[in-house]
Amino acid sequence: MALIRLDKFISERTELSRSQIKQLAAKGDIRVNGSPAKKSDLKIDPGKDSVEVSGRSVSAQRYRYILLNKPQGYVSSTEDTDGPSVLRLVPPELRTKGLFPAGRLDKDTTGALLITDDGELAHHILSPKSHIPKIYIVKLARPFENKYVDIFKNGIKLADGDICLPARVRNCKNSDKLAFIELYEGKYHQVKRMFAAVGNHVESLMRISLGGLILPEKLGSGQCMELLHKDVENLTSEPVSDLFLPEFSDFFSAILINKLS
Ligand code: URA
Repeated sequence: MALIRLDKFISERTELSRSQIKQLAAKGDIRVNGSPAKKSDLKIDPGKDSVEVSGRSVSAQRYRYILLNKPQGYVSSTEDTDGPSVLRLVPPELRTKGLFPAGRLDKDTTGALLITDDGELAHHILSPKSHIPKIYIVKLARPFENKYVDIFKNGIKLADGDICLPARVRNCKNSDKLAFIELYEGKYHQVKRMFAAVGNHVESLMRISLGGLILPEKLGSGQCMELLHKDVENLTSEPVSDLFLPEFSDFFSAILINKLS
């Protein structure tokens, strides 16, 4: 891999400025392969060399990909607007300059939200042209009706005349008010408006997957995890298993039923 300057490497992957990095290096707080690097203009090989700043290792990945299990009450924007920003939930060791939530979950929606500084990947995941599925579990106010399957498959027209792309929906065995829905786009309040258009009402909503990446059960509400290599590839791939098969959706809904508020 091409060599790059230590201060460039660190500043691209942390919140630190080059002058802060210079000072930390002078104090001996930056280590390369375990030894203090006194000069921040040292050249390193990001593919081979390990870098630590104040005892914390700096990931070699150029961009940061963070999966947040979003709780209710946080807004999917970089600033605190109508509530605290989801960025407040990112722990200091994962923060870099330029992080933003890739796409929006409503303030009261929970579940899988990607936070990244990679604009190209975010655009790819969100664009309907990329055909990357996003699956949600929905708690409905009224029982699921089988007619929704064909209505959603044919591309439902919303109250404002906007037409949705074809979407899959299925009822979960555990409850007649629980459903799975898969979207390839992200219109404003889309799931809520789709169910409103068939005369139902969404009481709670949780996103459980983005592409082939499923929200891990161990990731608690409000927790973040850094995605590395394979997980990042999974974001842009088709799911390995079809979550809509009854054995998967019934399994997931049994776990998730308690997590839906
Ligand atoms: N659809 C909605 O209605 N809300 C979300 O947060 C996501 C999808």
